[in-house]
Formats: sequence, C-alpha cells, structure tokens
Amino acid sequence: MKQIAIDGPAGAGKSTIAKAVSKELQFVYIDTGAMYRAIGLYVLRNNVSKDDEENVVKLAKSCDVTISYENGEQVVSLNGENVNGFIRTPEVGEYASAISVFKEVREKLVYLQQELAKTTNVVMDGRDIGSKVLPDATLKVYLDADVNVRAKRRYDELTLKGEKVDLKELTEEMKARDYRDMHRDNSPLVRVPDAKYVDSSYMTPEEVKDRIIELYREADK
Ligand code: DC
Repeated sequence: MKQIAIDGPAGAGKSTIAKAVSKELQFVYIDTGAMYRAIGLYVLRNNVSKDDEENVVKLAKSCDVTISYENGEQVVSLNGENVNGFIRTPEVGEYASAISVFKEVREKLVYLQQELAKTTNVVMDGRDIGSKVLPDATLKVYLDADVNVRAKRRYDELTLKGEKVDLKELTEEMKARDYRDMHRDNSPLVRVPDAKYVDSSYMTPEEVKDRIIELYREADK
C-alpha cells in the first residue's frame, strides 16, 4: 500500500492539503486529529477533567470511535453518532490536545489508524504519523507555517462560520497547544529526519498540493 504521512502544528494547512492530495491521487484521506477530537468531545460531554488521566483513559477505552466515508467526506462517529459538527471548536481542540498526551489513549487510536492503512492507499495527517503510525510511509512531509499566519487562518475559518473569536487569544492558545504537542512524553510532534519540510506560510493551497504531489512522484520512483 502507498502511504503519505503529513505532520505539523495546528493550522499549517494539513487537512486542506491532505484532502486535495488524496483527491488527486485517489487515496483515502484519514484525519487522525478528528479521532483525538472525538475522544476529547466524549470527555467534555462526560464532565471529566481533561487532565484526569485515570478517568480519561477509562472513557477512551469504553467509547467507540470509527471513521467512514459518505459522498467522499470523512465521517467521524462516536458511539455510532456522527460528531463531525461538534469537533471543530477551539474547546474540543484543546481537549483533544490534552487527552492525547496519555499513552493508552494514543495506543487505541494508533492501532485503529494502522488498521485503516493496511487495506488502502492513504494520505494521513496528524502529529505522529511519520514517527509512529506509518514509519515506512512512501512519503513523509512536515508541513509548517509561521504561527501568526496559522492563527490568522484559524481565525478566518472560525469567523466565516459565524463564531466570535479574538485573534490575539487564538494565537496564544495555538502557541500553548503547539508547545504541549511538541513536548509531551508520548509521541510528541517532531520533524523526523526523513520528512520533507514544506513551509506553507506564503504558498497558496494549490501550490502546496502540487509540491506534495511532486514530492510523492519523486519518492515513489
Ligand atoms: O490536527 P488537530 O488540530 O485536529 O488535532 C487535535 C489535537 O489532537 C492536537 O492538538 C494533538 C492531537 N493529535 C495527536 O496527538 N496526534 C495526532 N496524530 C493527531 C492529533
């Protein structure tokens, strides 16, 4: 199977690009962040503190997170409920980052992700794809962008949805989330030596997609 692993910090454009690349190559796109977000949402709904490891792990082990596809769109289900409409808020992002530090939460999701990649060609994005989930990926990309650019993108995305957010606050939250994702003990976000570095700060999504397709063609020769 062919695998493209895209890792990077929040707001670097991973999901937009991964979607576009998978469409062009006719691979299946797997958004692993959405799986952590589904568990984050479950913890939030159960009024459990995101730092309470024992209870977070209990909830994570007891819930059912699945990925399926409807009309080409990824649907994330939590105990059978489509939760796509609930997982994209900054609060759920914060919960996802916090609960993703726990080893047993990661083990459950890494296993599911590896199973998904066994049967089909995939583009998978996240934080530990090149380092842990798909260490033998055909192509590994580290997609980066300046933090101010990333925060502005997230700001535009949320404002467009009608949400009221403060750009400065969003930038600070993003920095804190990146710090935690990069410094946790279990599978932190790292730039693995065999990953191609792409800085999307001043590139259009189309340019980034084309660059990654080009890198893939070179890697797959
Ligand atoms: O990519 P995202 O913003 O949807 O991810 C939400 C959080 O989930 C992120 O802050 C850290 C965690 N995550 C992870 O630990 N490993 C992944 N492969 C994907 C996401």
